[in-house]
Amino acid sequence: LGLFTYDPGFLATASCQSAITFIDGDAGLLYYRGYPIEQLAEHSDFMEVCYLLLNGELPTAQEKKTFETSIRRHTMVHDQLHNFFKGFRRDAHPMAVMVGVVGALSAFYYDALKITNAEHRAISATRLLAKVPTIAAMCYRYNKGLPFMYPRNDLSYAANFLYMMFATPCEEYVPNPVLVRAFDRILTLHADHEQNASTSTVRLAGSSGANPFACIAAGIAALWGPAHGGANEAVLKQLEEIGDVSQVGKYIARAKDKNDSFRLMGFGHRIYKHMDPRAGVMRRTCHEVLTELGLHNDPLFKLALELERIALEDEYFITKKLYPNVDFYSGIVLRALGIPTSMFTAVFAMGRTVGWITQWNEMISDPQQKIGRPRQLYVGPVQRDWVPLEARD
Ligand code: CMC
Repeated sequence: LGLFTYDPGFLATASCQSAITFIDGDAGLLYYRGYPIEQLAEHSDFMEVCYLLLNGELPTAQEKKTFETSIRRHTMVHDQLHNFFKGFRRDAHPMAVMVGVVGALSAFYYDALKITNAEHRAISATRLLAKVPTIAAMCYRYNKGLPFMYPRNDLSYAANFLYMMFATPCEEYVPNPVLVRAFDRILTLHADHEQNASTSTVRLAGSSGANPFACIAAGIAALWGPAHGGANEAVLKQLEEIGDVSQVGKYIARAKDKNDSFRLMGFGHRIYKHMDPRAGVMRRTCHEVLTELGLHNDPLFKLALELERIALEDEYFITKKLYPNVDFYSGIVLRALGIPTSMFTAVFAMGRTVGWITQWNEMISDPQQKIGRPRQLYVGPVQRDWVPLEARD
């Protein structure tokens, strides 16, 4: 049945129409609702970006305040949800726990939820944005055997997450504005990226009318892979493995070797055939954070810079248009902020939740929306007749 176009990896298939995010991979451009990512990363904060993505326009001062208040009202999770954590081993990967616990939210918000109702969809978005950081921080505290910290709603979205991660009960917590800003920027840079693997997963799962919390859990699962959101964790592990500037040449040679499956993590992108615009912002943020913390001689950062320099001058990387992507620098910043490597992809999921739910909402509101149902090119045996057991050789 050769009726369908075979397009492995969807290189040439547009799965939807969308008015949310625009990418020009050849020119290295990324816009959310028409606004360049560089401008948003510089002048907006993550809450404003969330409002923009969800509503299509930047908020007025009053709209922003109302939006932030509604998010703050929902930061706590149902007390019973605490029990879910106990079912996991303490050393479980935070992404495994995130998939399970965020998926479990569907059990708390199911019966009364009508996805055809715009207000119900909006409250689901608010709940997800508010609760995913709380759950992510709980994953970390559970892993460490630390008591969960209740959200502090007087803090900003980013500062509250760092508080839930690192604060000690009854001790004063004073957020560092440079570090909070850097963390907030990481969320902004990860907020949406059109039809990537996890977003397409959310859309496909949602196209059947499934519960939005379950759809976001599916997105988290797709994000986990090292070719997608798991790359920030893989970059750091790889830098640690390389260990020293003197070893960079050896690893570059491995990345170029056709017979070696080794890849330089944090390099290359399906869409960007130019510098990922998010990587430039992240690189500057990296300098700010390391300066603030007096870590400028950080060996890992020096190693990353050397790797970037050599790769950008190398014929192989130039010809294949492999430039550093956002994950190349975000790992170093997260490490400087004290976030453990195993939590990096959970932070990516926190940033991307707004993109997933915005894309889900756009899909559900589209009058042309149909259940996603790709076809295949069948390459198995043609029809044959069943043979009795004793007659088979
Ligand atoms: N190191 C060495 N060679 C590479 C790399 C790399 N990081 N990335 C691609 N190549 C080569 C690849 O071997 C192939 O060579 P050839 O044409 O000779 O077979 C060519 O470049 C094209 O690669 P591809 O895998 O066909 O390209 P793709 O568009 O399917 O994959 C990618 C894109 C991001 C999965 C890939 O570049 C990669 O694995 N990069 C490392 C992982 C990474 O950093 N991922 C984060 C992506 S950004 C965050 C996100 O959006 O989730």
